[in-house]
This record gives sequence, structure tokens and C-alpha cells, in this order.
Amino acid sequence: MMKRIGVLGSGGGSNLAALYDHLRELRESGSASGAVPEIVLVASDQKGAGALERARKWGVEAAVLPDRGANARQLENLLREHRVDLIVLAGYLRMVPRSVIGAYHGRIINIHPALLPAFGGAGMYGKRVHSAVIEHGARVSGATVHFVDEEYDRGPIIAQWPVPVLRGDTAEALAARVLRVEHLLLPRAACAVAAGSIRLDENGRISHPPTVTHSPELAFNLQPESDETIVEGIDRVLTDV
Ligand code: GRF
Repeated sequence: MMKRIGVLGSGGGSNLAALYDHLRELRESGSASGAVPEIVLVASDQKGAGALERARKWGVEAAVLPDRGANARQLENLLREHRVDLIVLAGYLRMVPRSVIGAYHGRIINIHPALLPAFGGAGMYGKRVHSAVIEHGARVSGATVHFVDEEYDRGPIIAQWPVPVLRGDTAEALAARVLRVEHLLLPRAACAVAAGSIRLDENGRISHPPTVTHSPELAFNLQPESDETIVEGIDRVLTDV
């Protein structure tokens, strides 16, 4: 069980807030079977990042990383000082130092606002992703949570959820529709990894406890759905593969 989460972000921190709110609701509802993870550190390469503002408001340690990318030694010290056992990249635009990725194999995840491996990789972030999806005429986009490895956006996929691209969509409209799904997907995927119900095996592949069964009827409905429908589907995707 990983209980101490460190979040790295470069932007407004809406995914950080979705994770924070989800963990607080789990704690307050008492519905979680095991201990509920907590966010013990928020770090950013941008000193004015909204993510840091949010952390300070919550009384969570907020740290600024050197602006020339995360200085490996400083980041390693921060993670060690706060005994972080799961790293969540939420809108973090820098490459994580290889030493950290190696030390956190299977314990560092990222959310990307598209259905990887499509529309991912170096330089594909924020509005550029949604503009590329629209320019290519894709009918379906979505959100992906994946384990982080040495290559941008190429680690094993933990969970995804599709989002329809609607006629006349602007990048902003699509970004907002995908962001809403990100806010539902990331917290649930992070909790599944923290609980060990989704993990990387020694060959670097996603493994699940033998108990899960396939649910062949799991079909994605490509119409905008209610949060409840999406959450039900995400929860099933995280347990049935
Ligand atoms: C989100 O679309 C996230 O997927 C991307 O950055 C955007 C903003 O994230 N990496 P946030 O509001 O800072 O969480």
C-alpha cells in the first residue's frame, strides 16, 4: 500500500485538486477498505503555478523546483524528506530525471489528455494535443493514465476513457470535455495503483490480481455521459481487464 503521494505540476492544478478532493471524500465517507493515501508534497518548476497555491491553502508542503528542469538531487531529496512512495505527474511539463524514474519504477504515474499512444510524446501537451486531434479529424479522444518510463508518454497504460470529438469542436471545447474526464479518471487510477490492485510486474507489464474477471459487455458509449456513468465505467475498467 502506497500512502504518501507527491504531485508534480506546472499549471493550474485542476487535476491535483480533483485528486485531493477525491481522497478527502474517501476519508470523510469512511468507504475506503484500506488506509486512504494522502498528498504530502506538491512540487512545481513554475514558482507561480496554481498547483502550489492550492497546496499552500491546504497546508500541504509546496516546493519550487529549479526552472531548468527538475534538478535531480533536489527532487530526490524532497521526495525522500517527505517519504513519498507514489509520484503523480498532473500537468507537469518537464522530463523527470532518469534517476527518479528508476527509483520509482512502478510508482510514478502521469495523466495525458489524449488516448495514448496517439497524440502523445515530446511537445504534445495542453492545447497542442487537442488541436492535433481536431486537425487529424479524430472522432474520439480521451484521457490516459499511464506509468512513467524514460520516454515521454510511452509507459504502460493503466486506464483510459474516451471522449467524443463533436462537429465544430474548438481545441478549447475539446480540452474542457477531456479535462472533466481527467478529473474523474486520475484519482481512481492513482488509488488503484496506491492500493497495489494495478501494478507493474518484473517485466514492466501491467499486472492485476488473478481474481479479476473480464467483462466482455464493457462497451464505451461515445455520447457525453453523466459523471455517475463515467465513474462506474472507470471503476470497472480499473478492476476488469
Ligand atoms: C490537463 O489537460 C493535463 O492532462 C495536462 O495539463 C492540463 C492542465 O492540467 N497535462 P491541470 O489543470 O494543471 O491539472
